[in-house]
Amino acid sequence: MKVGALKIGDTQARNNLFLAPIAGFTDYSFRKLILPLGVGLCFTELVSAKGLYYGGKNSETLLYCGEDYENTAAQIFGSDPYYMRWACESKYLEKFRIIDVNMGCPVPKIVKNGEGSALLNDIKKAESVIKEMVKSGKNITVKIRTGIKRGDDIAREFSQMAEYCGAKLITIHGRVREAYYSGEPDYDAIARAKKAVSIPVIANGGIFTKEDADLMAERTGADGVMIARGAIADPFIFSKISGENPPIKTLKEFALAHFDEEIARIGEKRAAVEFRKFVTYYFKGAKNSKQNRMAIMTTEDVDEIKRLLSETL
Ligand SMILES: Cc1cc2nc3c(=O)[nH]c(=O)nc-3n(C[C@H](O)[C@H](O)[C@H](O)COP(=O)(O)O)c2cc1C
Repeated sequence: MKVGALKIGDTQARNNLFLAPIAGFTDYSFRKLILPLGVGLCFTELVSAKGLYYGGKNSETLLYCGEDYENTAAQIFGSDPYYMRWACESKYLEKFRIIDVNMGCPVPKIVKNGEGSALLNDIKKAESVIKEMVKSGKNITVKIRTGIKRGDDIAREFSQMAEYCGAKLITIHGRVREAYYSGEPDYDAIARAKKAVSIPVIANGGIFTKEDADLMAERTGADGVMIARGAIADPFIFSKISGENPPIKTLKEFALAHFDEEIARIGEKRAAVEFRKFVTYYFKGAKNSKQNRMAIMTTEDVDEIKRLLSETL
């Protein structure tokens, strides 16, 4: 696929390869390390607009970007236009130039409040949310799925609505809610949406290799791609797609630096626990990793974890 800078409203992503928002994974430590490896733009984990309104400390932590707000968009969720605009104009999002609204989350806790992918069922509500957010003057982007049930295709209509409301970019996860994260992406639905709008369209879903990215770009005609699980499994996927020479060369180097970053940010005890979920990804494909993975899952000794990482990767 063709890799290059992408204009998003009055700002620009340095390239069109985006790291997806992934709750529980794309925290500041991970984003900081992966950004120099060829990522054009990354996103915070989803943050509740109401949570920010009521002063949730956790939401603030999720939005932390150190010194680098340039290359990160904040992702918020909610269905009340008032809170959504308030969040965009709040001090919490002051440093972000791009604010993304989550309209794809399938998690029942969120859907039952009419938020996340529930908005795909209520285009009028989605429209008023986007319109109010746009009034904040920020570059508003929207992340959707292709529908709720198999056979749905709301991507085209939703993309047109989002553009009409003033959104500056739309990301389409080419799966319906009921498919969660599995199955082949619906390339055609993304392609139809892309043809119907003039704002950039980013295609997402099932990209684990450079070949998958090329196929996605070719089949959809999208302006760029967004990668979620494929980036945790292989943080070098962006540089593999763009052909850039990454400053970190090996997964061992990346994993050790990532763990150090976690320790510096949240302390040894929490880092040891939080890091376990990444190890499952990092060790996939590593030879004889089972025993060392089990050992990491049951220890809080950071030196031992580093030793096991070095030995396995
Ligand atoms: C554990 C997990 C957490 C996720 N968290 C978010 C989130 O916070 N916001 C969001 O828009 N999408 C979230 N997603 C969806 C991803 O951004 C992405 O759309 C989806 O995983 C499909 O991309 P992939 O096939 O490359 O993984 C999450 C996905 C997973 C697996």
